[in-house]
Amino acid sequence: MMVEINSTAGVAADAPPQRRGGTHELIGSSRAMLRLMDVIRAVAPLDLTVLLIGETGVGKNLVARTVHRLSGRPAERFIAVNCGAVPPGVQESELFGHERGSFTGAVRTRIGKLEAAQGGTLFLDEIETIRPELQVDLLHVLEERRFTRVGASHALDVDVRFIVATNEDLTLAVTEGRFRRDLFYRINAFPLVVPPLRERVEDVPVLARAFLHDAAERLRKPLRDFHPRVLAELMAHDWPGNVRELINVVERAAIFSDGPLVEDVDLHPTGEFGATEGKDGTPRAPGGLLHSPALDGVRLGRPRGPASLPGRPAHESPLFDPTTEADISLAEVRRRACDRAEAAYLDHLLRRYQGDPRDVARHARISRRSFYYKMKRHRIKAATYR
Ligand SMILES: Nc1ncnc2c1ncn2[C@@H]1O[C@H](COP(=O)(O)OP(=O)(O)OP(=O)(O)O)[C@@H](O)[C@H]1O
Ligand SMILES: [Mg+2]
Repeated sequence: MMVEINSTAGVAADAPPQRRGGTHELIGSSRAMLRLMDVIRAVAPLDLTVLLIGETGVGKNLVARTVHRLSGRPAERFIAVNCGAVPPGVQESELFGHERGSFTGAVRTRIGKLEAAQGGTLFLDEIETIRPELQVDLLHVLEERRFTRVGASHALDVDVRFIVATNEDLTLAVTEGRFRRDLFYRINAFPLVVPPLRERVEDVPVLARAFLHDAAERLRKPLRDFHPRVLAELMAHDWPGNVRELINVVERAAIFSDGPLVEDVDLHPTGEFGATEGKDGTPRAPGGLLHSPALDGVRLGRPRGPASLPGRPAHESPLFDPTTEADISLAEVRRRACDRAEAAYLDHLLRRYQGDPRDVARHARISRRSFYYKMKRHRIKAATYR
């Protein structure tokens, strides 16, 4: 059974969510998902600030959009800010905007995301990455519904519905002094947990089928369903990358399958989520990096068989092999390139900070949780840098 939340109202005014393999609707039939959908329906029309908590890829962005869509302001703007991707130095001006001449480089007045979202919804993702000084300002905005552009002399009223998200345990961030207790209490009034996929395996078949139908349409292939053995395999997997990982697995399977049944999926493609740990004794490469698949571009994400070209350093190896991968998509090549760059960058930081997760995460401006997740994903062990 597929349960979708439909709204009769208009859709978000900004660009639609990325479409690749995904759907616009929240899909799921597990008790956890049904309950979540009930709560979303109940809370969406109220102008309450909602805190979304969940691992990466569980669907926080999709939930945020759904809340907006079912809110009293669906035709207004939905503005999403990934706070973790905004360098600390420009967070303030990004959120609140700035007046011309308020700092070097502020050649013209710019409105911030808060103002851009006026009348609509502001989605603040990775909220735990907001600088402490800015956390105070944000608390004021939430309480007073007023804010001041950087360099401005007067405050402006703001009518915005806030949705914030985190993939970290915020109580831990509070205990460690990284997140203000008062702001935490303010945003934690309505916490909504989006459970990891492994805790709702009943959702795996409905999700996988929806993504398969979507892929079949895009690839113009007669793919009808999964072989029961494959479905069982999918349900037994632990999905560290959650729904996003499932989309990728289905997408790849669809590319390599002729149908009508998908008979084969690769749950452990090298360099992907949950790649099997190198049966230990994995040698540490000279640079401190374990044999990371992400630095080994040729093998990265390859669904089938290695194709390394001998005698070339991994980072110079081609990103794909035209003889065996004629079908490869640009998205896949881009993903491999990203993975490689990410692994090289992490290797650099790990060396610089002697494997200290806190320093590396802070420097990279990612949460510690996503740092650990990336380490796992690239099969890098911080301990080997100490
Ligand atoms: N219940 C669901 N039904 C349909 N698609 C889903 C569902 N949950 C997640 N997705 C899809 O999975 C992908 C990842 O979801 P999303 O980006 O919302 O995750 P996230 O929790 O925001 O991840 P991150 O923490 O990495 O930002 C998206 O393409 C989204 O559309
Ligand atoms: Mg997200």
